[in-house]
Amino acid sequence: MKQDEIILSIETSCDETAVALIKNGTEILANVVASQIESHKRFGGVVPEVASRHHVEQMTVVTEEALQQAGLTMEDVTAVAVTEGPGLVGALLIGVNAAKALAFAHGLPLVPVHHIAGHIYANRLITEMKFPLLALVVSGGHTELVLMEKHGSFEVIGETRDDAAGEAYDKVARTLNLPYPGGPHIDKLAQNGEPVLKLPRAWLEPDSYDFSFSGLKSAVINTVHNAAQRGETIRPEDLAASFQASVVEVLVEKAARAARENNVKQVLLAGGVAANQGLRKALEERFSDLPQELVIPPLYLCTDNAAMIGAAGSVAYQKGKRADWALNGVPGLDLEAQ
Ligand code: KG4
Ligand code: ZN
Repeated sequence: MKQDEIILSIETSCDETAVALIKNGTEILANVVASQIESHKRFGGVVPEVASRHHVEQMTVVTEEALQQAGLTMEDVTAVAVTEGPGLVGALLIGVNAAKALAFAHGLPLVPVHHIAGHIYANRLITEMKFPLLALVVSGGHTELVLMEKHGSFEVIGETRDDAAGEAYDKVARTLNLPYPGGPHIDKLAQNGEPVLKLPRAWLEPDSYDFSFSGLKSAVINTVHNAAQRGETIRPEDLAASFQASVVEVLVEKAARAARENNVKQVLLAGGVAANQGLRKALEERFSDLPQELVIPPLYLCTDNAAMIGAAGSVAYQKGKRADWALNGVPGLDLEAQ
């Protein structure tokens, strides 16, 4: 009988310390996430040094909790997968070193994983991936359209030329004095507002799959300042709804066009902004009468977690991808070189 493949996966690229145990690439046995959001809130964003210190404090506890939840010991583990990059270097290093220590101590293979590959592979935990596919990746650091012809092959056909979608959400939220991370707060406000304000949509060149959100962000900030100078009030709900409508319209239209022009079978949503209710709804509506199957992950698989790293790690492990003891955190790791 074939033994089950159990991947222990670690994610520490930003402000979540996360460890998961994944069986045969698709089944979550444990998925523990220790969030540091409370510690970063008072600074209005992630402070790298604070993130690293939290990762050090949480790493062992979270690993033990994951093994306990899964009812497993390190003896049951086939390989250790870890986020190599991109991310904050000091934060990545904590996970990489923990993974190296575990793999070395237990004589296990060490598998490096790209964080964005992880976000995309979160979808494999809920459904089978059908190729060719298109992934719309929208997170705090990335906004990309990624074409996949087969497992483990990534072609970035469009990306942001300035701010990532999540970054724009967080900056607009700061303008409205909302706490960090602002995305979920804007999302909630938008649900009670009307998109009545005229804000720009950055379509760029007609054939481009690229994105740009800095102009929109500046337009929101200007709108708020101009209104304040004139002594007018803008309902924050309407501002949030107008901003969200602009972001969502561009994301949905570019994804739909890329899906059609590249004849994909499936469109996967990935990354922290995938939790956005407005985006989820708009994608569902847009793709309801299109031939491509749309896959939207559940909320707990959208923001950073280690289950997604285990799912991507399983594919990398099966392909024979290994790291040696010199593995380092790589803040600008290239997705296409995976
Ligand atoms: O993928 P993620 O957890 O971390 C990165 O890899 O960057 O994404 C975090 C980003 C933050 O910018 C956060 O504001 C945004 O995802 N986000 C949202 C929502 N939930 C999280 N943005 C819009 N609407 C949401 N509901
Ligand atoms: Zn992420």
